[in-house]
Amino acid sequence: MSHQFNQYKSPLQQSFKHAVSYIESLPDRKIDHAPTSQELRQTLAGPLPLHPSDPAAVIDEMVKNVDAGLIASGGPRFFGYAIGGAFPASLAADWMVSAWDQNVPYFVSSPAMAVVEETAAEWMVELLGLTKGSAVGFTSGAQEAIYTSLITARNTLLQREGWDVAARGMYGAPRIQVVISDQIHSTIKRALSMIGIGLEDIVKVPTDDNLRLIPEALEQVMKQIEGPTLVCAQAGCIDSGAFDPFDQIADCVEAHSNAWLHVDGAIGLWAAASDKQKHLLKGIERVDSIDTDGHKWFNMPYDCGMVIVKDPNTITTAMGGNNMGDYLNDAMDKPDRNAINFGISASRRARGVPVYAAFKSLGKAGIVAHLDNCSALAKLMAEKLAAVEGVTILNEVVSNRFSAQFGCGDESYRNELTARVVHRLQSEGYLYPSTSGYKGLKTMLISILSCHTNEEDVITSTQKIIEAYHYELALMENEKDQVECIK
Ligand SMILES: Cc1ncc(COP(=O)(O)O)c(C=O)c1O
Repeated sequence: MSHQFNQYKSPLQQSFKHAVSYIESLPDRKIDHAPTSQELRQTLAGPLPLHPSDPAAVIDEMVKNVDAGLIASGGPRFFGYAIGGAFPASLAADWMVSAWDQNVPYFVSSPAMAVVEETAAEWMVELLGLTKGSAVGFTSGAQEAIYTSLITARNTLLQREGWDVAARGMYGAPRIQVVISDQIHSTIKRALSMIGIGLEDIVKVPTDDNLRLIPEALEQVMKQIEGPTLVCAQAGCIDSGAFDPFDQIADCVEAHSNAWLHVDGAIGLWAAASDKQKHLLKGIERVDSIDTDGHKWFNMPYDCGMVIVKDPNTITTAMGGNNMGDYLNDAMDKPDRNAINFGISASRRARGVPVYAAFKSLGKAGIVAHLDNCSALAKLMAEKLAAVEGVTILNEVVSNRFSAQFGCGDESYRNELTARVVHRLQSEGYLYPSTSGYKGLKTMLISILSCHTNEEDVITSTQKIIEAYHYELALMENEKDQVECIK
């Protein structure tokens, strides 16, 4: 009986055709068509199929039926949350990852993928100016990188106290004191709540008007803390892009007898590659562990994150890859890179491949140009908006993002007007900001991360924001007058 490997060709050809057509539509596509789930279910849901269908026809039908429910976040004017586009070589490389269908926890399960990931890891450490020899693991995103980092931190801190978490668990273990910036991202707290450390006794260090940790406040806190201590700071705050002062934080951590410093670099770590921006990350090489994302500012297709740990022995021990069972002993005996040592996943796809392709296709110069372009465009938009009466930019724009508020009235009026402006822009679909919060205020968050955003996108988007603001302002004033009349 002959094999049927030629049956891939037709669905792959259809996928190629649809993918190119979707990607080329991104600059002009309405970003969000806001379909209801009910509308989407009409074509996507239904009874479980009982019989086979032609694979190419399945692709065609699915592409047609999902279209209205896709958010064009890979386009040039998607400025919400923290979602980047995809570099061309990385997207194409990601297709190859699926075609090769390699499982990568062990060198023996895919020698080529192991060396590609090893190389991408080394290039990344070099590009970011981190300590040579740091361990890098490729994860599903920053959240998984945070779990990996904080598990490594927890086990190492307790090991130094003579407590082996892998053997004894957390029952009766010495308490780990956690110190975080009051702006730390929810994913850090999520990890702490799941890895047996808990949230109850966390000490929060205040931040300044730019949401940057105040180092003097940390110094005071650290003087009063004894025993194993985990300190979490961030490189790039979601709402302001602010970078915590790593050198001063590292001084406090190093003065402590048993402390670990973790940095959440999901938003901003990549700035370390740029001569223009790396001053923001002074001291980052002193940090014990860092999480970051490939799929945000580094424009990898979803999903891709990285964990970086300065002392490779700590992560290798914590991940426990050597105890996977007899059938894997030979695999682990090899001296080559076994990715299971650098992350909590066992089987996974080769997420380092799109990263490798980005380094190869852009080179350092191309990557830095992308990073500098995003930050320059964020500054340009913020400056243009700040010149409009009634628009307040809440943070100093140091990186790829800023938070804005609209209006001059009291806080609740400004909060409502700001939300209305953002919702209007989202429903128009030309650009996509999101709402967020800034020390209790409702804000418009602008995050410029895409390799496709250019100056024209920023100028036309700024104009649309100003128009939406004036439109909603007039509406709200009108509504206020009507209420006054009725009174
Ligand atoms: C500051 C920060 N840290 C961590 C994360 C988690 O990243 P991911 O969703 O890739 O796991 C995010 C997500 O937006 C973030 O903004």
